Amino acid sequence: MIRRRNFLKKLSAGAATVSTAMAATSTSQALAKPTTKPIVVSTWNHGINANMAAWEILQKGGRSVDAVEAGVRVTEAEDNLSVGYGGLPDRDGRVTLDACIMDENGECGAVACLEEIKHPISVARLVMDETPHVMLVGEGALEFALNQGFERENLLTKRAEKAWQEWLKKAEYKPIINVENHDTIGMVALDADGNLSGACTTSGLSYKMHGRVGDSPIIGAGLFVDNEVGAATATGMGEAIIKICGAHLIVELMRQGNSPQQACEKAVRRIAKQKNAKDIQIGFLAISKQGEVGAYSLQPGFNFAQNDQQANRMKDVSSFY
Ligand code: GLY
Repeated sequence: MIRRRNFLKKLSAGAATVSTAMAATSTSQALAKPTTKPIVVSTWNHGINANMAAWEILQKGGRSVDAVEAGVRVTEAEDNLSVGYGGLPDRDGRVTLDACIMDENGECGAVACLEEIKHPISVARLVMDETPHVMLVGEGALEFALNQGFERENLLTKRAEKAWQEWLKKAEYKPIINVENHDTIGMVALDADGNLSGACTTSGLSYKMHGRVGDSPIIGAGLFVDNEVGAATATGMGEAIIKICGAHLIVELMRQGNSPQQACEKAVRRIAKQKNAKDIQIGFLAISKQGEVGAYSLQPGFNFAQNDQQANRMKDVSSFY
């Protein structure tokens, strides 16, 4: 908890687009970009509700890692076919969830192929906070979650089961572009103290092979945070993102001087060279240490939600194709 006086101080220091450049004496200070903070961005339409929960914490001066965990939990609890409860199952009818979280200190935690637990992001958080490890998978992740007090739940809704039964009639194993088939919530945030964190959670590719894991729980693929530089997250066909270490690549491109937008575009252009690029969707979303936002996708149709001092609103993203 922070005291009200400190909280007001933090917010006024971080109020939208505050610039200290005018008062700067050195050249580097004079060229310093204004900082927008706090700010939170997250993938797809479900980001609006998620951002609201994250904003509750950010606007009180809370830590970005708490904000992103609270934010994506909202989506995990929604019956939305692609994240947490209600997610479409694998081809055997099992809902398996992947998630990861990373904080301003470079600490991170992840779970993959976790079943029957509605909030994989909170299990990932505990992997980060309570174990010496970064990732737990399958049975081991479930055992850890149960030991930590999480309850087993049936995550396969009637709607998802019906969709799976329908799919079984042809059992065609191929990705479909955009939300009909799969989408993830990836969220990155900059708090009033200027610290970055991110979270990413998904039920992954629908009707996948049992045991398949995508980019979302892989630190450096679906999510990466470097508190000196920026944070990035990804959505779309995980295999393509893993092949270029997508989120890490974007942060490293920002470190080299690219804006978040330039970095997302360069990462998508790398994926565009892959042999099945025309058939898949990829969306990248990034923020810099200054709260500058960038996003780019392979195909049209990707969007994200942005919440800052102005409003919580959707933004459409331009694409390579
Ligand atoms: N991006 C989510 C997945 O491929 O599983």
